[in-house]
Amino acid sequence: MTSRTPATGYVEDVSPGRGTLPPRAWYASSDAASLSLNGGWRLRVSPTADAEDDAFAEPGFDAGSWAEVTVPGHWVLQGHGAPVYTNHLYPFPVDPPRVPAENPTGDHLRVFDLPGDWPDGGDTVLRLDGVESCARVWLNGTDIGEFKGSRLPHEFAVGHLLKPSGNVLAVRVHQWSAGSYLEDQDQWWLPGIFRDVTLLHRPPGAAGDFFVHASYDHVTGAGTLRVDSGVPGRVTVPELGIDTGTGEAVTLPVEPWTAETPRLYDGVLATAGERVPVRVGFRTVVVEDGLIKVNGTPLLFKGVNRHEWHPRTGRALDLDTMREDVLLMKRHNLNAVRTSHYPPHPAFLRLCDEYGLWVIDECDLETHGFVEQDWRDNPVDDDRWTPALLDRAARMVERDKNHPSVVMWSLGNEAGTGRGLTAMAEWIHGRDPSRPVHYEGDIGCRDTDVYSRMYPPHEEVERIGRGLDGGTHRRRGLPLILCEYAHAMGNGPGGLTEYQELFERYDRLQGGFVWEWIDHGVEHPELGFAYGGDFGEELHDANFVCDGLLLPDRTPSPGLREYKKVIEPVRIEAGDAAGTVRITNRYDFADLSGLEFVFSHQVDGIPTGAHRLTVPALAPGESAEVKLPGAPDGRGEEVQWTVQVLLAEDTPWAGQGHEVAWGQGTVAPRAPLPAAAGVRPAVDGDRIALGPAEFDARTGAVRSLSGVPVKDLRLDVWRATTDNDDGASWQTDTRYGPLWRESGLHRMRHRLDAVETDGDALTVRTRVAPAGRETGLRTVYRWTSDGTRVRLTVSVVPEGDWRMPLPRLGIRFGLAGTPEDAVFWYGGGNEAYPDTRAASRDLLWDASVGELQTPYVRPQENGAHADVRWAEVGGLRVDGDPEFWFTVRPWTTEHLDAARHRTDLVPGDTVWVHLDHRLHGIGSQSCGPGPLPRYHLWPEPVEFSFVFSQPRD
Ligand code: GAL
Repeated sequence: MTSRTPATGYVEDVSPGRGTLPPRAWYASSDAASLSLNGGWRLRVSPTADAEDDAFAEPGFDAGSWAEVTVPGHWVLQGHGAPVYTNHLYPFPVDPPRVPAENPTGDHLRVFDLPGDWPDGGDTVLRLDGVESCARVWLNGTDIGEFKGSRLPHEFAVGHLLKPSGNVLAVRVHQWSAGSYLEDQDQWWLPGIFRDVTLLHRPPGAAGDFFVHASYDHVTGAGTLRVDSGVPGRVTVPELGIDTGTGEAVTLPVEPWTAETPRLYDGVLATAGERVPVRVGFRTVVVEDGLIKVNGTPLLFKGVNRHEWHPRTGRALDLDTMREDVLLMKRHNLNAVRTSHYPPHPAFLRLCDEYGLWVIDECDLETHGFVEQDWRDNPVDDDRWTPALLDRAARMVERDKNHPSVVMWSLGNEAGTGRGLTAMAEWIHGRDPSRPVHYEGDIGCRDTDVYSRMYPPHEEVERIGRGLDGGTHRRRGLPLILCEYAHAMGNGPGGLTEYQELFERYDRLQGGFVWEWIDHGVEHPELGFAYGGDFGEELHDANFVCDGLLLPDRTPSPGLREYKKVIEPVRIEAGDAAGTVRITNRYDFADLSGLEFVFSHQVDGIPTGAHRLTVPALAPGESAEVKLPGAPDGRGEEVQWTVQVLLAEDTPWAGQGHEVAWGQGTVAPRAPLPAAAGVRPAVDGDRIALGPAEFDARTGAVRSLSGVPVKDLRLDVWRATTDNDDGASWQTDTRYGPLWRESGLHRMRHRLDAVETDGDALTVRTRVAPAGRETGLRTVYRWTSDGTRVRLTVSVVPEGDWRMPLPRLGIRFGLAGTPEDAVFWYGGGNEAYPDTRAASRDLLWDASVGELQTPYVRPQENGAHADVRWAEVGGLRVDGDPEFWFTVRPWTTEHLDAARHRTDLVPGDTVWVHLDHRLHGIGSQSCGPGPLPRYHLWPEPVEFSFVFSQPRD
């Protein structure tokens, strides 16, 4: 009998690796040479870790027949194998630290020459910034080591192995390793060398590692700078006149760094061997009096969770994409990012320093799949894994410690509890006492400095705000942040306004981080964007990977625009005195001097001309009432005021005139609609004429309005359920999406009871109900006309034992049309539902039918507009009494409901128009709570009207 010990034992070894250099700060030297090894590499993918020997690493190996891939990149997104998506389930049997024999292994080869001017002497370091999940590295045939820790840098000393030309760098990457057990984040499993590979010359006397300590004393206005460096040197900051030795503290007046005022001072650390640019931001973070304070001021996080994502390149992001993320965040009023759930590419943190975002830097750690076995054998509670955990903590902290934007360290995500986490927290506290430590799983806050939760309902957040949530003594003295809330999957999230109100009401609530920034849809030729299951995965979690505020191509979703409005840094409301507005500065640090205020009245949605409003440069938290210019006489028309808050000057993240906030109010309400009655219905054979409307005499169905053919006008209660309607399987509260479907709300039958022409009305009586149920909606359509206009009044009376709210309540009909057809309306502008309507601004709008579709990756209900007074579509004008929710689609709700991907939706020759009296809220139940009760659409007797006419010119 023979036993075979594979040379790949390191793959299943719990240790972090072998041969790497100690972690250190990540920086780009201004004078030491470096060589990027990004670009085309040769690749061979094998099905198992040990399918091939290591001959490929030898110089002279002919890889001419191998494929080419781009590094940084994931081979599964470059035509070799396929991505796999699971939320928390490990996509392999859980038997730590063992991994499956089927372990796709990518041998990567790159041959390179050193530039002619590569310096002699010193050393050279090979840095790999991110490899998933385990790599073994050879240079010129010498095995230099192996490592795990996918989203963390690893360096090797390689100077002694380099030649002027023909260097062979061989990297064997295994998709699965012991490290995979620590990397069970909710995302695609994407093997590869997905961050930069760089050769860094280290001259004699190079800086090595250094730690910039730059604090700010808000009482004295002084900053203190001390740069600790393993290699002594001098620190200069010309703007501040600083020229001092490493290890020496200098205190002097400075402008502090905050996310709102990201003041950086450029300096240089000069050692004997190199000059290193440092960007110094002075700020002090403390948890004090139960609050997280920066520079003495409590923060309110208006944050988002950011995974790294690009629909073509996965987690291999270029600088432009990172910058785009930061710019989009700043332009949408976000002030904070949690780097869920691993340290991002280091360049992202530089951008956060520069543009100003508070960062919770999270370690590359999640062991969520162990929940399936009640957390038995969880690596974070097994001492054998502790070195790997400490290695990860150190690699994060050492790499990122010099970023002023990083205000908190996070141990990781959803890894249960255990001694390993405590060890990480202790190590971090010891190494960097200047930043609080976060970990949501530490429910008693034993190891952590803030109380953190995910997805609590509003009511519980309020209880925590009031200090009535109990918990350990230590926890009771700590602030709360919601490291995740408001699940932005598909349409939504709902309820943001109410969370923000709580955050603003209770000091202890220091804001939160919406889940999440971007949909991780994979660009796909047939499907538009692919999600879990589209690559034939055995286990997967479908479109749970598409739950961002950006669509995969970085188009902002209506949810992002909603969030922008909810967290706007200036609040504008009607003032107490008539003709005034109250303006409140909701920044934590900045005054309003960088903003200008533009005011206009609008009459029936049409602005009457803009004026500048003079507003004092209010300090944070201050309010002022400002008088508005006199309103025009509406003479029966609706008059509103709108104040826009715009950037007064160009900023690095948006130009002058960019809108940061707005407010709107009513001066004179809309006049009631005319009755539109007087003409009598006339029966003529199989038709009934009523003014400009024609009906089927037998069924009472409208055939045309104002000469426009109308198809299937009737009561509608169904919507293509949203991800938030469907909810997550683990939710214990009622999930209405499945209940609606089970109850047949998607297959309502319309029974005709009577068609009556008496007096000046045509009345059609019906009962709308699903097969198999006693519940129904008695629905009466009453039509009248004044000869030019036609008025429809719909009365609905529920019958039976309704145990659930309705998705929607309104009418739907079809008009001949295409996606290119223009639509005009007066009412709200952004997609809105009852609990997602903060950003709905009244104006006169126009768009094509196609543009009114929000292309959520998994098609679902979308595109409603709130408070619509009137709309014109397909040659018809509709005025609402009262205002209505307006939606148009180039396909039916049934098509939308059946579609799995965008590409399943093909427009026909009919435009479907929804005029809804009410809609059910959206909520966040795809991971969090459902809509607040006040946004439930409970059946009750209602009546609502529409007046149809020809469009006005
Ligand atoms: C959280 C988790 C996230 C993500 C989210 C749902 O529990 O921390 O990684 O899975 O749920 O989208």
